[in-house]
Amino acid sequence: MQNADLEQAVEISNDIYWVGSGSKSFLSRNSYLRIFKGSGNVANMLIDPGPSSDLNDLITKTTQVLGDISKINMLFINHQDPDVVGNLPYLCKINPRNVVLATEDTWRLVSLNSPQVTFKAVERFKNFRVSLNTQPSHRLQFIPTPFCHFRGACMLYDLESRILFTGDFMGGIAALGLMATEDNWPGIKAFHQLYMPSNEAIRKAVQKIRELTPAPLMLAPQHGGIIQGELIPEFLSRMEELQVGLDIISSLEDKFPMLISAANEIVVVFKELCDEETSRQVLGYFDPDGSYPALVAMSQDGTVTDIKGEPVEVIEALIKVFLRNVPADRQNILKARMTRILLEHNLPPFDLLLAQQEASADFLLDEN
Ligand SMILES: [Fe+2]
Ligand SMILES: [Fe+2]
Repeated sequence: MQNADLEQAVEISNDIYWVGSGSKSFLSRNSYLRIFKGSGNVANMLIDPGPSSDLNDLITKTTQVLGDISKINMLFINHQDPDVVGNLPYLCKINPRNVVLATEDTWRLVSLNSPQVTFKAVERFKNFRVSLNTQPSHRLQFIPTPFCHFRGACMLYDLESRILFTGDFMGGIAALGLMATEDNWPGIKAFHQLYMPSNEAIRKAVQKIRELTPAPLMLAPQHGGIIQGELIPEFLSRMEELQVGLDIISSLEDKFPMLISAANEIVVVFKELCDEETSRQVLGYFDPDGSYPALVAMSQDGTVTDIKGEPVEVIEALIKVFLRNVPADRQNILKARMTRILLEHNLPPFDLLLAQQEASADFLLDEN
């Protein structure tokens, strides 16, 4: 499955298809089509329909599987973000008999922008579970994950396939194929640091996943790779320890202005040591194309205005990029001047710089 052609629908489990988009972009969007077959009614459920910019892709992929997108008759939405619900008005128009499942908090917002359709609040199902009117019956469980990242966010657990559709939770940027590997972790971490509000919210969601019986075989998020096997407990444990959003902001509140000003001084030194073209190109890495904000926000003139990930790691990443791109004969000068800036700002030791100096202090004098 890892090498699947992502221009096509991909069957990830029996009667469950990935019909997502943007697999080559920084922030992929995963939509899933679940077909509940039986001798009686058939339900074709689309999970997280995706943004309107992906509609053509969604039409192509669902038509490959169903023959006609209007055969979709159930929609599940994790929360109300545009990358989740953009296609909802179209889908409800093409089949007004569609039934939408979501939490009440989510629907209150989504319904403002959707035509009249049948809505079923997941809170109304006893114990957040429902059996579909198919023969044989299929069972679904809804698992609210408050503030991961929206108040009304809710996961969907398909008890037959044991696939848990997690929405933004467990999602990641810079996916490297349909299935997640160890290499996906940095992108998952960065995504959560940016979009999840607090470790406390994450812990509650992790706990709910651990309590599921039977345990899920796959975690299928709305962005990035699908997580399975040993990576499930591994990534859940790391997630439990992850400091995100407000945790980061609160713990570094007093150091934050220092980090920003150090980052800006480092940018100035880098510009000084590079030719104009290289410096324009490298600083261009931090100029987001609109599809995803960079972890370092820079203004047009290359001034750092904000740091959105774990700040020390973000500064390290910045330093690594600069060191990689400065002309080889100026690397030591750059190292020396950056180290001086960091020390002057009383910032914590930056492993990267210190490790490369091999216990020699000479570089501090190696400016010219
Ligand atoms: Fe979201
Ligand atoms: Fe999302």
